[in-house]
Amino acid sequence: MQHNHARRMSRLILTCGVLGLLSAPQVLAEVQPMKQSAEVEAKINALIESMTVEEMAGQLTQIWGSEVQDTNPVTAKTKHEDLLGQIRAGMVGSLLGAHGAEYINELQRAAVKESKHGIPLIIGNDVIHGYRTMFPIPLGGAATWDVDLIEKSERVAAIECAAMGTHWTFAPMIDVCRDPRWGRVAEGAGEDPMLGSAMAAARVRGFQGKDLTAKDTVLACAKHFVAYGGAEGGRDYNTVDISLQTLHDVYLPPFKAAVNVGAGSIMSAFNEVNGVPASANPYTLTTVLRDQWGFGGFVVSDWSSVTEVIPHGFAVDAADADAKAITAGVDMDMSSMSYREHLPSLVKSGKVSKAVVEEAVRRVLRMKFALGLFDDPYLDTELEKKVILTDENRALAREVARSSFVLLRNEDSLLPIKDDVKSIAVIGPLAESKRDPLGTWAGVAKAEDVVSVMEGLKSRAGEKVSVRYAKGCDISSDDTSGFSEAVELTKDSDLVVIVIGESAEMSGEAHSRSSVELPGVQRELVQAVAKTGKPVVVVLLNGRPMALPWIAENIPAILVTWHAGIECGNAVADVLFGDFNPCGKLPSTFPRKTGQIPIYLGHKNTGRPPTTERYTSKYIDLPWTPLYPFGYGLSYTTFGYSNLNIASSDIKRDGTLSVTVDVANTGKVAGAEIVQLYVRDLVGSMTRPVKELKAFRKVTLAPGESQNIAFDVAASELGFHNWDMEYVVEPGEFQLWVGGSSTGDVEGRFQIVE
Ligand code: GLC
Repeated sequence: MQHNHARRMSRLILTCGVLGLLSAPQVLAEVQPMKQSAEVEAKINALIESMTVEEMAGQLTQIWGSEVQDTNPVTAKTKHEDLLGQIRAGMVGSLLGAHGAEYINELQRAAVKESKHGIPLIIGNDVIHGYRTMFPIPLGGAATWDVDLIEKSERVAAIECAAMGTHWTFAPMIDVCRDPRWGRVAEGAGEDPMLGSAMAAARVRGFQGKDLTAKDTVLACAKHFVAYGGAEGGRDYNTVDISLQTLHDVYLPPFKAAVNVGAGSIMSAFNEVNGVPASANPYTLTTVLRDQWGFGGFVVSDWSSVTEVIPHGFAVDAADADAKAITAGVDMDMSSMSYREHLPSLVKSGKVSKAVVEEAVRRVLRMKFALGLFDDPYLDTELEKKVILTDENRALAREVARSSFVLLRNEDSLLPIKDDVKSIAVIGPLAESKRDPLGTWAGVAKAEDVVSVMEGLKSRAGEKVSVRYAKGCDISSDDTSGFSEAVELTKDSDLVVIVIGESAEMSGEAHSRSSVELPGVQRELVQAVAKTGKPVVVVLLNGRPMALPWIAENIPAILVTWHAGIECGNAVADVLFGDFNPCGKLPSTFPRKTGQIPIYLGHKNTGRPPTTERYTSKYIDLPWTPLYPFGYGLSYTTFGYSNLNIASSDIKRDGTLSVTVDVANTGKVAGAEIVQLYVRDLVGSMTRPVKELKAFRKVTLAPGESQNIAFDVAASELGFHNWDMEYVVEPGEFQLWVGGSSTGDVEGRFQIVE
């Protein structure tokens, strides 16, 4: 008893200690850069005082704002005059889908000059991985493990979209996902909470810059709050049922990181969380977001996610859904127009307190002031000509693309392409595509701006190397009639580059796949071409981790390029011809088969971890290891790790884990390495993952060069939520690994002590 009592006491002290360490009040102070001056707060309160409930409901309403692209039946009737009429009547606070400085200036004039209160509109759009200069899909961006590069790419996205009238982007999408059947895995940063948190913060910083009132910054919107990526079976919009511990230790951290760097808005998700829809969930939207984190911005629903609370079986009708959503903490209603319809009567009937509606309006007005929209609501219509799709933006897109590529195999250094290669056969259904490299959420980007793989290779090869093409097959049909032409071309070439994978339409929202294998007969095409005995390089264009067991076994060189954006072809040529040494690392585990999903790094050990012993946790028809693990990626050079040093093997719970390691370039060409640090808490009051990423660093080394890399990880980062939902860092032994992948190159141990 004594022992338990002591342990409990120590834990309580610890709990206070940890919270004290995290110093909740200070954390709250940090996360409120959006707090306005007393003068602005006074203006906001005066405005709210003067508004009717109908006008407040209008301010909390976002509708589709460009009838020319109008696809939604609900707003099909919203024609231009009708739209202006709604704006003048104060029935709209925000638009989405509107683009173009002239057009938005006209809409803004209707709001500012022709409505009763003159409140400016806030224009939101999905700028998910670029605007006109399209960067790699965010999953590819995460594969760079380069937060500075990703921040720069979002800076460019902000500059371009702001010039065209966007004030607010519905990004970053930061849903952790461990089931790549989910189409939206393409939009996030993969399976890991720590990498996801780093990418979330970088993207928010890129969008919001240093001054939200500047004409080249936009409000960020961390989405989809929360745990949308945990949909059962990877089926979009499906049920999410997870422990509170998993919610706090896996799915919430990227949102906390976004809030900590000042994200001005959050989007509530479609899914339910443990039986309560995310768009009407008081625990996530108020207890966590407001009370625990002190979030100062506003929450917008996802498209009609407020009224979808009805089919969830959580509300009897739209009015009930609205009452639950706004009371839980959803401030703005995207597209359903239900708030506008029901909030006035809900307030008049007392079902919703006026103070709740006023606070929602206050949050939205704060962000409009923060953006400077009250002082300067109009756009410089000349700007877009100067800042859209510049050479510098393209150059950055090319840098991000090639940094995102992951080299999975390179047997006998087949790559980079050698000087004696005089003829290249380019085969495959994606080689000439200019649309698919744009990936999902391509928005206003244009296929004509894209450099296809074929174009990139031909341009780089010049006159000295012949580059010829045969499609071989479609992306997803069963037609093999093109195989013979591809095989003939292969026989007549020195090297074959097969460009296969997924179309852009196979990933993204509402595009979950029941299989993550290659669609159609693409694998059979690779097999037919490989039979010729010619050296084959597979270039994969993909929106998710894919199961490629035969290719992994039989093809000497494999490059994962994701959907790499407008500079796809040039970036592929840069890597294949050796002008750039690949350095990307997998942000998500690649499974051997769809049936192996979920398979991810941060899994638990179980009481019977997989071994060759029969009665252990594994499939009888498949090795239990992944095809390629989280954090894995090759280079044209090699790196050696040595001299791992842990400053102190006993670390207090308010102390710091300080680690140094020597990393050497042991090969013949310069290259960048992503040095990764993982830990395992060997014994806890809850079972702990077999490995957790806790730090990473990108380092570039010349051949033969060595650097001593240092990591400092606060012991408070080594905790978890226990059974009682206290955040605890418990005493005990930890294992530690450092390396160029989650398999770890060097290993050590340390203790957390009382
Ligand atoms: C979509 C998506 C969301 C997007 C919104 C507006 O349904 O779920 O990510 O921002 O609607 O397009």
